[in-house]
Amino acid sequence: MAFLNDHYLKLKAGYLFPEIGRRVREFTEANPQAKVIRLGIGDVTQPLAPAVIDAFHKAVDDLTRPDSFMGYGPEQGYEFLINTLIEKAYKPLGVSLKSSEIFISDGSKCDCANILDIFALNNRVAICDPVYPVYNDTNVMVGRTGEADDKGYYKGLVYLPCTEENGFAPAIPQEKVDIVYLCYPNNPTGAVASREVLQQWVDYALANETVLFFDAAYEAFITEPGIPRSIYELPGAEQCAIEFRSFSKTAGFTGVRCGLTVVPEGLLARTGDGETVALNTLWNRRQSTKFNGVSYPVQKAAAAVYSDEGWAQVQETIAYYMENARLIREGLQDAGLTVYGGINAPYIWLKAPGGMTSWDFFDKLLSECHVVGTPGSGFGPSGEGFYRLSAFGDRDNVIEAVKRIRKNLA
Ligand code: MLT
Repeated sequence: MAFLNDHYLKLKAGYLFPEIGRRVREFTEANPQAKVIRLGIGDVTQPLAPAVIDAFHKAVDDLTRPDSFMGYGPEQGYEFLINTLIEKAYKPLGVSLKSSEIFISDGSKCDCANILDIFALNNRVAICDPVYPVYNDTNVMVGRTGEADDKGYYKGLVYLPCTEENGFAPAIPQEKVDIVYLCYPNNPTGAVASREVLQQWVDYALANETVLFFDAAYEAFITEPGIPRSIYELPGAEQCAIEFRSFSKTAGFTGVRCGLTVVPEGLLARTGDGETVALNTLWNRRQSTKFNGVSYPVQKAAAAVYSDEGWAQVQETIAYYMENARLIREGLQDAGLTVYGGINAPYIWLKAPGGMTSWDFFDKLLSECHVVGTPGSGFGPSGEGFYRLSAFGDRDNVIEAVKRIRKNLA
C-alpha cells in the first residue's frame, strides 16, 4: 500500500468554506422553508461586464476557424494580456514591470499555494492571525510545521496577531523570518495598510533578506486616496516582494478563473550553498513544467476588463458591492454592533455581541435569521469572537439580511 502525505493529517478541520457549506446544507435540509441568505464565502453575484462577455464570445469564435484557432498558449500567459496589465494596471501606479515578470494563472489562491514549491522547507514563515486559511494550511501540507496546539497555532510558523488593540495591523516581527504573507486590503478584517506601514515591511524585508508574499486580490476595492494598490509602489519592493492579483473579485471571475503573479527579476533567494538565484527563473521553470496556461478566451476576457468600456463597467459593479458594504456596515453599526472594514474592502468584520464565540454567533444567525457569514475563528485563533460578512451579495439580499439581523438584535 502507498504511503500518504502525513502532513495532511495535521490539518485540524475541513477547509473553512466547505465546512460552512456542510453546516448550511444540514440546516436547509432540516428547514426547507427557510430562505437562507449567503454572505459567507466572498463569491460574486453580479454578471460579467458586457465588454468582457463580448471579448469572451469573440475569442470562442476565434477557436472555430482554422486561421484563428489557438492550441497551447504560453505557460506564462499571452503577451496581449501581460502587456495590458503592464500598461493599464501597473503603469498608472508608477510601477514599471517587464513582461517576463508577470505570470498569468488560474487564480491567486492556486498561486499563493503553488509558490511554496520554489522555497526550501527550512524557511521561517510568518503569517497574520486571522488570515486567509490557504496561507496557513498550505504550509502545513508541505510539511513546514509540526502539530497544532490547543489554540490552533501550528508549531514552526510565526503568527502575527491582528487584533482590535493593534487596529488589525500586525507588528513587524522581532525575530528574523524568511517569508511573510501580507494581504492588503485584508481578508478577513477589511483593514488596509498605509504607505508608511508598507514601507516599514519593505525595509524590514530588505534588512533581513525576507521575501514578502503580497496578496493584492482586493486592491480594486480601495476607495480612499493614498492607499497603495501594489507593493511595488514602495521603493525597494521589487527586490523583496512577490505580488498576487486576481480577476475574481475585481471583475467577477470567481468561476471563470484568472489571476496573476508578479515575480520581479531582481528578487533573489539563496541556495543551500549560499549562492543567490533569481526566483523569477525558478517560478518560470515551475510554471512551464506544472501548468499549461489559462485558456485563450479567458485571457481575452480578462484583457477586456482594461478596455475603456470594460473598465467603466467593472467600476460600476465594484461600486455596487461597496454600496452593499456601506449598507451592512452602517446598518449593523446602528444596531449597536462593533464593526470594522467595509470601506476599502468588500468584507465587514464585526464583533459578536455579548462575548459570544464566532461559531455560536454563526449558528445563531443561521438558525434565527437564516443568514450565513463566516466565523472569525475559522481564520485563526485571533479571529475568535469575530464574524465576517461579505459584501458580494445581491442588493435585495443584503438589505434583507441587515434587516433580519437588526430585528434579531433589537
Ligand atoms: C473568501 O471568502 O475568503 C474568499 O472568497 C476565498 C477565496 O478567494 O478563495
